[in-house]
Amino acid sequence: MRLLIVGTLEGYISAAGKIALQKGAKVAHTDSIDGAMTALRSGQGADLVMVDVKLDVGLLIEALKAERFAVPVVACGVGTDAQSAVKAIRAGAKEYIPLPPDAALIAAVLEAVAEESHAMVSHDPAMAVTLRMAEQIAPSDASVLITGESGTGKELMARFIHRKSRRANGPFISVNCAAIPENLLESELFGHEKGAFTGAVSRRIGKFEEANGGTLLLDEISEMDLRLQAKLLRAIQERVIDRVGGSQPVKVDIRILATSNRDMLAEAKAGKFREDLYFRLNVVNLALPPLRERPQDIALLAQHFARKYSEANGLPERSVGPAAMAMLQAHYWRGNVRELENTLHRAVLLSRGTEIGPEAVLLTGAEPAPPPAAPTLAPAAARASATYAGAAAAYGGAAPGHAGAPAGGTQALVGRTVAEVERDLILDTLRHTLGNRTHAANILGISIRTLRNKLKEYSDDGIPVPPAGGLDAATA
Ligand SMILES: Nc1ncnc2c1ncn2[C@@H]1O[C@H](COP(=O)(O)OP(=O)(O)OP(=O)(O)O)[C@@H](O)[C@H]1O
Ligand SMILES: [Mg+2]
Repeated sequence: MRLLIVGTLEGYISAAGKIALQKGAKVAHTDSIDGAMTALRSGQGADLVMVDVKLDVGLLIEALKAERFAVPVVACGVGTDAQSAVKAIRAGAKEYIPLPPDAALIAAVLEAVAEESHAMVSHDPAMAVTLRMAEQIAPSDASVLITGESGTGKELMARFIHRKSRRANGPFISVNCAAIPENLLESELFGHEKGAFTGAVSRRIGKFEEANGGTLLLDEISEMDLRLQAKLLRAIQERVIDRVGGSQPVKVDIRILATSNRDMLAEAKAGKFREDLYFRLNVVNLALPPLRERPQDIALLAQHFARKYSEANGLPERSVGPAAMAMLQAHYWRGNVRELENTLHRAVLLSRGTEIGPEAVLLTGAEPAPPPAAPTLAPAAARASATYAGAAAAYGGAAPGHAGAPAGGTQALVGRTVAEVERDLILDTLRHTLGNRTHAANILGISIRTLRNKLKEYSDDGIPVPPAGGLDAATA
């Protein structure tokens, strides 16, 4: 996790920097927006930019956009200055951190941005085979394709391989091919030369060059468009890249890891993914089993997350009691480890005492949304709004859906397909969060990428999707 601090933070730079360092971040500092742009262009890289509200936050965000940098920005200022906070958020900052810096808040922001906590916790035999294979192939330079359902730990596995490799002291650079808009991805990967397009005022170093001497993770690679796949193939085959608008190929020394939650061979057969690229990447395939097929991991991870979130929230250590554990073991875990993690985080906050009981375990998606008021044949969009009020009650916490007797159960849904029910649940949840993708994905227990992919499918099918809202408008 690399943090770039821009500005003086009203004299609190060293305090903020120290907190971030203690949390394991690498911290760099520059006084001005120009300085920040120069640092980024040089390939110094940042996973998060923290900017003083005294500077022109809007200008910084525009400059990042113009030069195609996809990096989140948070603004910092003296706590009472509400106006500049609002202004910064309007300009596209993801968060506002009041000064003087609060250690817990900075830690939470760093955590949210980088999802830092990379220990691989597992002892289920179903996972042991994959882990052994990962350790075995880690020291080589072979490309690895890591597959598995959403939330099974693909990115964590990539970090694990890097840590165990000969490149462990080199950089680990991750590019989320699904989250970065298509027109920015090429610059993000390969960099660009000054003048390559309007807004390219200087040379910019891309992730391939940033990862030199280390590992490059191409996350959600199946989302990359075919044109870029061709360029990627050349980069992987020849270990050289071309910056956008560049005339000189640049040599790179990297190890490539890639992840996907799709069946890549099927994607290749359907012409959506280049077959030659698939075979290049798939020198080794590590397939992560879904959590529901790893019963021993459910128990171990549940206790691990209970401890982790007790500590993170400054609460007495809470452990999962037998009744709660039985519920966890019986759940389907569509969102896999990520869903389990969110469930335990909630459970820790909802419990009292040292044992987590079943009443604190809220399994989102365990109970279906209330039956639609409109007839089954109504168009999806109409149905979605008809069920909205009920869904809001269920998620608002007023109706603890899992604990009480489920009114009507799933009977009212019989006759509808799983895809339809899923679509309505997703759209209802999104309305409930006022269009905020990040919150909706958390509630649904799915990744933001999965959510975006689903929403894209719906709008491709002509179904209206609520516009992005709240703080994630800038990244949607
Ligand atoms: N074995 C594990 N031990 C500890 N934490 C884990 C484990 N597997 C996954 N996690 C945690 O679960 C969350 C999801 O993991 P990760 O992001 O690696 O999954 P993913 O497969 O890349 O998901 P997606 O397909 O949605 O991108 C992370 O917070 C990660 O730290
Ligand atoms: Mg991932």
